[in-house]
Amino acid sequence: MSRFSSRKFLHSQLCLPIPYPTTKFTDKTIIVTGSNTGLGLEAARHFVRLDAARVILAVRSIERGKAAAKSIEESTHRSGVVDVWEMDLDSYASVQTFSDRVNKELDLLHVVVENAGILTYNFNMSEEDERQITVNVVSTMLLALLLLPKLRETAAKINGKTVLTFTGSWMHLLTKFPEHKAENVFKELAKKESARMMDRYQILKLLGLLFSRELADLTRVSEKGHSIIINNVNPGAVITDIVRNPEGLRRIYAPVTQKLFCRPTEEGSRTLVHGAEGAEETHGQYLDDCKVGVPSAFFLSEEGVQTQKKMWKELEAKLERIHPGIMQNI
Ligand SMILES: NC(=O)c1ccc[n+]([C@@H]2O[C@H](COP(=O)([O-])OP(=O)(O)OC[C@H]3O[C@@H](n4cnc5c(N)ncnc54)[C@H](OP(=O)(O)O)[C@@H]3O)[C@@H](O)[C@H]2O)c1
Repeated sequence: MSRFSSRKFLHSQLCLPIPYPTTKFTDKTIIVTGSNTGLGLEAARHFVRLDAARVILAVRSIERGKAAAKSIEESTHRSGVVDVWEMDLDSYASVQTFSDRVNKELDLLHVVVENAGILTYNFNMSEEDERQITVNVVSTMLLALLLLPKLRETAAKINGKTVLTFTGSWMHLLTKFPEHKAENVFKELAKKESARMMDRYQILKLLGLLFSRELADLTRVSEKGHSIIINNVNPGAVITDIVRNPEGLRRIYAPVTQKLFCRPTEEGSRTLVHGAEGAEETHGQYLDDCKVGVPSAFFLSEEGVQTQKKMWKELEAKLERIHPGIMQNI
C-alpha cells in the first residue's frame, strides 16, 4: 500500500507494539539533533542506557540541552557520557561551526541521528528559504554532507559500518506536491503569496525522503557493502510538542487526537534507535514500524525519481554556494 490508508495507520498506531531496543551501542559516539525534548531526547536516553560511550545532544539552546542531559543522567544513572553542543539549523553558519567542532574534537563518530525539526502553519523566512525548508531540509542536508567524511573515516578505522539516519514521517504520504513542476522548486516554495502552508510539512518530509534516497545511492559501496548506512525513519504519530503554540480549533483537537491515536514519546523514539542500529537492508530505505516500509506512490513513481534528480541538482547548487567544495564529501 503506497497511498495513505487510515486502516493501516490506525492498526500501526493502536495495535502494533514497537519493540523495546536492546541492541547495545557500546563504545559508540552518537550525535542526536533536536535532543533536548521529544523524540530526540528519548532516543538519546535509550543510547545512554544501551551503553554508548558518548552521546552529543546537538541543540539550539544550551540551557534546554543541559536540562535534558541532567534528566538522562538521572534516569540512566550514567554520568560523563552526555555532552551538550550548540547547533541551530536556522543558521548555516551555526551548522558549519558545529561540524567544524565535530571534525576537530571527535576521533570517531559512529551514528548521526538527524532528528531536529519544526512544524508550523505560518510562513516565515530563514536564510534564503521558507523557514521549515531551511531547518528540516537544507540545513539538515548541509549537516549530513559536512559529517559524511567523519562517518566514512570512522567506518574505515573500525572496519565496520557507521550510520546516518533521518527522522522522516508518514505524512509524506499525504502530499501530491504540485510545486515539483516549477522550474526552481526551492524558489517556488519560498514565495509567500502562493505558499500552501497546510501542505508544507508533508512536502518537506517527502523532500527529506527523496534526498536521503539520493544520498544513499550516491555514497560509495564497497565490496563488503555500504560503509555508511543511510536511512529515513517514520516514528508514526507521537505525543510531542512539535506543534508549538497551536492556534484556533487546533488547540482543542490536537490534545484529543494525541490522546486517542498517538504513541507515547518514548515508544516513538524506539523507531529512531532501530534506524540507528543500521541494518544493511535499511540502506536507502523508508522505515516504518521498525522494518523496511512502503513509501508514497509519488516517491516510487518515475516522476518521483525524476523529481529527486532535479531537486538534488537544486540542492547541490545551494549547498555549494553555502559551503564551496562540499559535494566532494560524497
Ligand atoms: N511527533 C510526531 O508525531 C512526529 C511524527 C513524525 C515525524 N516527526 C519528526 O520527529 C522529529 C522530532 O520532532 P518531535 O515530534 O520530537 O518534536 P519536538 O518535541 O518539538 O522536538 C523537535 C526538536 O527539534 C529542535 N529544533 C527545532 N528547530 C531547531 C533548530 N532551528 N535548530 C536546532 N534544533 C531545532 C527542537 O529544539 P527546541 O526545543 O529548542 O525548539 C527540539 O529539540 C522532527 O523531525 C519531526 O518532524 C514527529
